[in-house]
Parts: sequence; structure tokens; C-alpha cells
Amino acid sequence: MHIEPVGPKGYPFIGSLLDLASEKRLDWFQSLTQKYGDVSKFSLMKSDVYLVNHPDLVKQILTKKSSNYTKKSIAFKMVKVVLGESTFTSMGDTWKRKRRLVQPSFHKERIAALSTAITDTIEDMLAEWEVACAKKQTLNAAHEMMQLTLKVVVKSLFSTALSKDEVQTVANVFTPLLEATNKRVVFPFQWIYRLPLARNTTYQKYIDELDAIIFRIIKDRRATAQPPNDLLQMLMDAQDEETGQPLSDEELRDEVMTVFIAGHETTANAMAWLWAMLSQHPEIREKVELEVAEVLGKRTPTPADFPKLEYTLKVFKETMRLYPPVPVLPRKVEADDILGHYKIKGGNSIFFSPYLLHRHPDFWENPDVFDPHRFDKEAQRKRHTFAYLPFGGGPRICLGNNFALMEAVFITAMVTQRFKLDLPPNTTVEPLVSLTTRPKNGVPVLLERR
Ligand code: HEM
Repeated sequence: MHIEPVGPKGYPFIGSLLDLASEKRLDWFQSLTQKYGDVSKFSLMKSDVYLVNHPDLVKQILTKKSSNYTKKSIAFKMVKVVLGESTFTSMGDTWKRKRRLVQPSFHKERIAALSTAITDTIEDMLAEWEVACAKKQTLNAAHEMMQLTLKVVVKSLFSTALSKDEVQTVANVFTPLLEATNKRVVFPFQWIYRLPLARNTTYQKYIDELDAIIFRIIKDRRATAQPPNDLLQMLMDAQDEETGQPLSDEELRDEVMTVFIAGHETTANAMAWLWAMLSQHPEIREKVELEVAEVLGKRTPTPADFPKLEYTLKVFKETMRLYPPVPVLPRKVEADDILGHYKIKGGNSIFFSPYLLHRHPDFWENPDVFDPHRFDKEAQRKRHTFAYLPFGGGPRICLGNNFALMEAVFITAMVTQRFKLDLPPNTTVEPLVSLTTRPKNGVPVLLERR
């Protein structure tokens, strides 16, 4: 027997827009799953949205049935304004070609070549922290991690090709561009963004400024006889196995912009939460300290150390379980379908939420407890693979996951070698969940030199 998903009625015309746009969106999603089960439905303007909260069903959406659950949703249209037609936003044969071309640049051994770009950038941050520590300044770990991961991405992509002014432009433009994009995704009314309003012109100006930098670097790089071994070069050298064609300048621009955007805020938010978690769980922090001391001593990590920093990696994974950087993933339903025993109508949107799946009581014991041992080999083996989706799943799984994991483990290890980060007494860190899950008021930390 196939049944029609049910859910709240919402208001006339706008449906549940206010709940969806509210800061408490995920609490509302949670309440829908508790009230209506693993598939619920709410209305939004002229169409319906399904909320799916079971790993079996999410697995079908992301794998076997992925051609029926596409990225044609309005949220991706908003993101396309910035990213263009990249691996992240494209679909069908265009996506297949791009993924085939770009994927080798993200293989483990290629990522290993970027490890010094990562560790040098962390080292620069730590040198600045020495000064802050001596002055007993409180730092905002969320801000620090955002700056750090942006610098890591810039260095991994372009080595040292950015001028001082360009570094400044990137730093100035990025946060407002990301914030405005987040807002556009939550309020996806395209016509508003076409109006000649100052904020729309500024938005376009940010994109133009970044484009100018990216195209300048591509042009210079094409004229360089001995190019460096960075991510841009790997992307430029990539050739389609079937046609031998490389990416065009326009396509390179879209991939570079994607790495810029997809590749830093996500990692930064997870790292900000990690410092909050470690400060709140001193016994877990001690285990990280022990592992770092045993594996590295005072040495800078290399790719060969990554597999040995096992517990540190589990801590990062557990942080992303409770605070997945991408909390909700949308898809468009192309044609009518039966998902589990639910009837799903074509033309509507469908959401699933790593945030909810990671706290689903049928798959996680005491889901609110922070426990890195959930990622012990045996525990992982027993769990449904689609109950943990910080990087998505199926053919469209995150391309940068190996990069992000190595970067996060290196940051955790190198900071731990030198400093202890503590939240000031009585500090609570609350999530603000929009396009990403970030700490609402940052993560204030006091530094103690080891
Ligand atoms: C902790 C850090 C990160 C998280 C949590 C994350 C999360 C995700 C998720 C959930 C998706 C799937 C989106 C969907 O299916 O709708 C995705 C896709 C993607 N991510 Fe990441 N990401 C991270 C870091 C990175 C980095 C560092 C890069 C690049 C350097 C990157 C590049 C991409 C790309 C290109 C895609 C599109 C893949 C495709 O559709 O074929 N991500 N990411």
C-alpha cells in the first residue's frame, strides 16, 4: 500500500515559508519528523516539499534513483549565479564530463602534494597566535578558522600567485558574498535579485572582482614556462580521457570559484565546532594531545602521518556528526516516484538533512552525546552508511573530502602541539543553521601556551 506523505498545512499562498526561513528551521524539521514520520510534506508557495529522514530512502535518492532527484532545485539556481556551470552545480552529461576531468586532481596522492601549502599556512597563523597569547587576547576561533581555511585554499590553488592587493580583495569580498548567497538560497526569489537595487549591484561587483583575479591568474599561468604544482595547475593539466580536451578558461573559472566557496567555509565551521567540543570535553582533548605527542612530537605533520592520527580524525568526524557543515541538501523531483511506501510527485522539491540523520535515534545511541568512538572501525561497519552524510553520498559525493579531512587533522594536530584553547567560563556556543551550520556568535577562546 502506497501512502501520501502528510505534514503541516501552513499559511495560505506562502505555506510554511516562515518556518523554513526561520533560524529555528532545523528544530522545525525535527518536529516534523517526530510528528509525521520518516517522510513528511509541507507546502511552499505553489509547490510541495518532502522531507525525507531515513537512510534507506536517502540512499535511493542519492544512488539508484539519482537521475530522478536532480540539482535543478531553485537553491542550486541561486548558487549557480556565483559558481557558474561547475562540478557542483552542473547535471547530466555536462556534470559527468566535468567530474571525470576534475576528480583526479583530488585523488589522495595529488592532495598529498598540497600538504606543505596547508602546513605552511597553519604555521603562519600559529605565529600570529603567539602574539595574541602573549597579550592574553581572547580570539574568535570561528573567525580564525575562516581566515585560515581561506588562506589554505588560496595557497593550494594558486601557490603564491596572488598579489597583496588581491589577497586583500579576496579577504574583503568573500564573507559578504557568502553571507548574501546564504540569504539568497533561503529566500530564493529570483526576480528580487534582478531588481536594480544597491545590494544586487554590490553582489555582482563582488563576483566581478573575484573573476578579474581568477582570469588574470589563468592568463599568467598559461604564459608560465615552469608552473608550480598547485591545484590550479592540476586542473589546467587535466584532459578528458575520451576527447583529450582540457577545461576552457571559463570552465576553469567555475571550478576555481567552486573550490573557493565549497572548500573553505565548510571546513572552517566544522573546525570552529571542534575547538568548542574539545574545550567542553577535556578527557577527549587529553586523548588528542596524547596521540599528537606520540605520532608527531614537535614535528610538522606530513601526509604519511595522516593515517596515524586516527583518534584526531575520529574527533573531527564526530564534530561533523553533531554539526554537519552542510545541514540540509535539496533536490528537485523530476517524475512521479514511489520512495519506500510513499508516493512522491514530480515537480516538487525534496529535502534530506544530514543534521537530522546524524541524530536519528534509530541509528545513533544517545545521539546528543559527543563520542568519537562512534567512528571506531567496528562501530562504523555496523552502521548504515547513509546515516552519516557530512559529505553527501553516491556519485555526487564531495570531491574535496580527502582534502578537507587532511586539512582538519593537520590543523587540530598543529594547534594542539602549541596551544590549549578554552572557552571562557559560562560560554555557550549555539548553532546558526542556514546554508551551513556555524556557531551563531562565534567561538571565543582563551589561548594557553603548552
Ligand atoms: C568539511 C568540509 C566539507 C564538507 C562538509 C563538504 C560537504 C559537501 C557536500 C555535502 C556535498 C554534496 C552536495 C550535494 O550532494 O548536493 C559536497 C559537494 C562538493 N564539494 Fe564539498 N565539502 C567540504 C569540503 C570541500 C572541499 C575542501 C572542496 C574542494 C577543495 C569541496 C568541493 C566540493 C565539490 C566540487 C562538490 C560537488 C561534487 C559533485 O557534485 O560532483 N568540498 N561537499
